[in-house]
Amino acid sequence: MIEFKDVTFGYSKENEVLKGISFSVEEGERVGLIGSNGAGKSTLMKAMLGLISCEGEISIDGLRVEQKNIAAIRKTLGYVLQDSDNQMFMPTVLEDMIFGPLNYGMGRAEAEKLVDDTLERMSLLHLKNRQNYKMSGGEKRMAAIATILAMQPKGMLMDEPSTALDPRNRRRLIEILNELPVTKIIATHDLDLVLETCDRVLLLANGTIVADGKVEEILWNQELLEQYNLELPFCIAGIPERFKQ
Ligand SMILES: Nc1ncnc2c1ncn2[C@@H]1O[C@H](COP(=O)(O)OP(=O)(O)OP(=O)(O)O)[C@@H](O)[C@H]1O
Ligand SMILES: [Mg+2]
Repeated sequence: MIEFKDVTFGYSKENEVLKGISFSVEEGERVGLIGSNGAGKSTLMKAMLGLISCEGEISIDGLRVEQKNIAAIRKTLGYVLQDSDNQMFMPTVLEDMIFGPLNYGMGRAEAEKLVDDTLERMSLLHLKNRQNYKMSGGEKRMAAIATILAMQPKGMLMDEPSTALDPRNRRRLIEILNELPVTKIIATHDLDLVLETCDRVLLLANGTIVADGKVEEILWNQELLEQYNLELPFCIAGIPERFKQ
């Protein structure tokens, strides 16, 4: 479904952010993409969507990431950007959510039913007619996720999907992710979210993938995580030291 062969990219010549990255993700895999601030997680996602042009070869669902395939690739891969403000560009949630389905040829009534069903499933019907710029950070984030779900993509890229969500919405997000049988890549610092929703982890550091394995191999490995400025997930680390008897 997703294949990287020797992919290199830098925002400037002196500074390579991705250094000869190769990996592949099979259809239906659930992958957590982790790494410290600036490791290149968002850049890797932008590369998959053709938002930046890299050296090497990237293909998505059999299509090379190049200009003529970009529209088809963005239909295949739904994506939730790290900053929801860059994602929501229509005045209201309804208009944002219905834009994709209408654009892909669905009739208005059917598209609106899809929007309603998606919002209902996420317990978000109250946001349907809200103006995007008047919503809170977490509301915007949930609406951005709903917008992607309404497009029914074959794969999903989510960049920090749980940021700004309250515990109830974070739990809803986890349930929704676990009900969806599509291929997923989730870039996040919320390692507990990865534990609950992913089977495989890619650890990015210094422009390369320094570890690629099962969730239980990587997220329990304190030494490896600390080596790359990460920590054990909270649920594994347990109660903070100062509360221990
Ligand atoms: N538009 C840009 N122009 C120049 N440099 C950039 C740009 N976007 C990102 N960078 C740099 O590229 C590197 C990787 O950034 P990226 O956003 O991919 O990291 P990240 O792993 O997503 O980090 P975070 O966890 O903070 O979201 C960083 O050093 C960053 O400063
Ligand atoms: Mg990022």
